[in-house]
Amino acid sequence: MKNQSLLIVDDEVNVIKSLKRLLLNEDYTIYSANSGAEGLELLENNVIGVVMSDQRMPEMDGITFLESVRQRYPYTVRIILTAHASLDSAIAAIRHARLYDYLIKPWSENVLLNTLAKAFEYHNLIVDKKRLEQKVHEQNDELKHINTNLEAMVSQRTEQLQEAVEEGILMLATAAEANDDDTGDHVKRIQSLTQAICIELGMTSAKAEEIGFFSMMHDVGKIHTPDSILKKPGSLDAEEWKIMKDHSAAGELILGNKPFYKIAREIARSHHERWDGKGYPDGLKGDAIPLPARIVNVADVFDALTHKRVYKPAWPVAQALDEMRKMSGENFDPDVANAFFALIDTGKFKVSE
Ligand SMILES: [Fe+2]
Repeated sequence: MKNQSLLIVDDEVNVIKSLKRLLLNEDYTIYSANSGAEGLELLENNVIGVVMSDQRMPEMDGITFLESVRQRYPYTVRIILTAHASLDSAIAAIRHARLYDYLIKPWSENVLLNTLAKAFEYHNLIVDKKRLEQKVHEQNDELKHINTNLEAMVSQRTEQLQEAVEEGILMLATAAEANDDDTGDHVKRIQSLTQAICIELGMTSAKAEEIGFFSMMHDVGKIHTPDSILKKPGSLDAEEWKIMKDHSAAGELILGNKPFYKIAREIARSHHERWDGKGYPDGLKGDAIPLPARIVNVADVFDALTHKRVYKPAWPVAQALDEMRKMSGENFDPDVANAFFALIDTGKFKVSE
């Protein structure tokens, strides 16, 4: 709403009277005061858009009064009424008190009406601008608040999804476990050893974590292998062995075709390949075997040797390591095997038996 409140300050009652008469047909709410002090009191209780004050008044002159108005009500537009004789000093004061304009006594009616109209227009523009700035400021604050909340929500949701995926993978891997281990300990051991070998090979911790995570699914294909084979105490015959070997290709199939599980599929399919090309299912040789699968192969053999299976007791770590040293270069990628031995020999990786 536009502010049309005008305050006239003059110590001469007649001046105020004739100004009111002049403004009778204008759409202003007019307040008047006979001194600066009285004017300030009126300003305290009313929202005034424009103040027009006489310069020459006893006690407080117009400039001093208007300067005081500026300090307290910076958006109230200020005009001085001055006699022709004191014009020069009034103009200097106008600059100092940052007045909007001045009017000379005796005034021209048209000039006065015009000046007042423009002063109100100016005042309302300033107020609108300030209101708009305030609104923009508030909306910015609100946007910032929404943004911060959104970020927190997205990151919380991402964390929950990640946890759910990990939990699902662990459940699937545990369900496929062959050795009566329904706690998931075997897959967790494979995960941590795989991750440690990756770090030892110089991978970033993010990459090592990723490969370690997917290593948990290396035997997921065993879900299709009958218990009579998985839990057979003796050695397998040729037909049983063939069925057993199918778990690597079956694992790859279970893991679908989404790019997210690419490393998991490589591990599931190729973790029984041998460095010398005599492994299965593809007989891949050397670098042709995906590196994550070469790493999981070492971790898997070590874990199988050092833990009890239905067909064998747990081997002591030293015996397992001796055996594995013989296998390096034949079964294992020598670089991966060396990284593994370094981890165990230096005690960087603590073996849980
Ligand atoms: Fe396997």
